[in-house]
Amino acid sequence: MSEYIISGGRPLVGHVRVDGAKNSVLPILCACLLCDGGIITLSNCPRITDVQYTLEILNLFGCETSFADGQIRVNSENARFCGIPCDLVGKMRSAALFLGAAAGRFHQAEQCRPGGCELGSRPIDLHLSAFAKMGLSVSDTGMEVKCSGCPHGADIFLRYPSVGATENIMLAACRGSGTVTVTNAAREPEIEDLQNFINAMGGNIRGAGSGIIIIEGVEKLHGVDYNIIGDRIEAATYLAAAIATDGEITVSGVCPSHLTAVTDLIVNSGGSVCRKHDSITASRGGQFILSPGKVETSPYPGFPTDAQSLIMAMLLCAAGTTEIHEGVFDDRLRVSYEFIKMGADITVSGRTAYVHGTERLYGARVFAGDLRSGAALVIAAMSARGESVIKNISHIERGYNNFETKLRGLGGNIVKLKD
Ligand code: EPZ
Repeated sequence: MSEYIISGGRPLVGHVRVDGAKNSVLPILCACLLCDGGIITLSNCPRITDVQYTLEILNLFGCETSFADGQIRVNSENARFCGIPCDLVGKMRSAALFLGAAAGRFHQAEQCRPGGCELGSRPIDLHLSAFAKMGLSVSDTGMEVKCSGCPHGADIFLRYPSVGATENIMLAACRGSGTVTVTNAAREPEIEDLQNFINAMGGNIRGAGSGIIIIEGVEKLHGVDYNIIGDRIEAATYLAAAIATDGEITVSGVCPSHLTAVTDLIVNSGGSVCRKHDSITASRGGQFILSPGKVETSPYPGFPTDAQSLIMAMLLCAAGTTEIHEGVFDDRLRVSYEFIKMGADITVSGRTAYVHGTERLYGARVFAGDLRSGAALVIAAMSARGESVIKNISHIERGYNNFETKLRGLGGNIVKLKD
């Protein structure tokens, strides 16, 4: 297991350009399976392990793929149906999106249930019930899922604005017969990016970002060149690190309006934020970090659950007590116990963590439990006194490209030890 060795206590200062959004490029790569009319070129793609796994799955379907210099090319003209083996599907949650893409292209799909970050129960009941409403026959043994049939028009209400379910419906319906309307759809920027990509291929989807999405099925989709949006959570990671280490970091390559909830919280915690067209600068100029009181994660445009552990890391030494309620996943506070090893004072009750600001953090040996909490541990280690060892960093590499290189570029003292 690879690990990071970090010597903390120095401010992180400088500029970093974030990569393309992980949670955008993954559904868009699944959507490439739907295109049998030419070559697709995606730019601003992050070189992360989840992208590698997704390309392996596309290759299994017979798609030709290549990845160089941030650019991915996909040719799905000769793609043919196949089931996806469990070992690949089990590696990441987004593999579930191949259900909708395969159903949309081949009118059948077959794969194990998806894996991914352990954040509590991660059912796919909303995905499967939507497929059934679109006329697919769905069988779910609990281990394996099979769908078959041609998706037709339907009116679908999502009881929860699930990101994955919204994306899977868009993928299954965009080449279906008829019109699918999704009410209470997820509104994340990555949903809009998926809509814009499918429309650029000749699809007909509207309403992404509004909560009501209308998908008109089309016969064919053609090749296209497309640029992936910047990663708002990667940006949040560096902004939180600037405040935690009393540095100053400018992140570029991201749309500032995609992380307003995060930058507002940084300001409410005593930080200062300067937003320009496609960059954001965060610092606190030696001022104390203040507790913002209560933080509650919720679907976009609310405070993003993916930034919950990042902000917790930022607030470990804040004056006062912060109540952080995880409103999206039922088990996403485990990182608290790793922070406690570093001297943090946190009590967890159900889906709420009470972070009592402490004087200093000190280096410790900690374990990354998932992608975002791994990044959060790096933030805490950068602000702690002494040396930290962060184990299981393969979780972090699923979503952060060149993480240690970018942090060294900001003055961080971090080394990656391969096992
Ligand atoms: C996506 O996961 C992201 N992953 C997650 O990012 C992100 O945290 C999440 O959306 C919320 O924003 C990708 O885009 C690859 P959901 P997803 O369906 O689609 C419940 C990261 O670190 N639910 O919106 O799985 C579910 O249990 C990852 O980048 C059902 O009950 O999120 C959860 O409590 C982590 N039934 C809530 O909805 C369903 O059928 C949110 O899930 C589906 C979901």
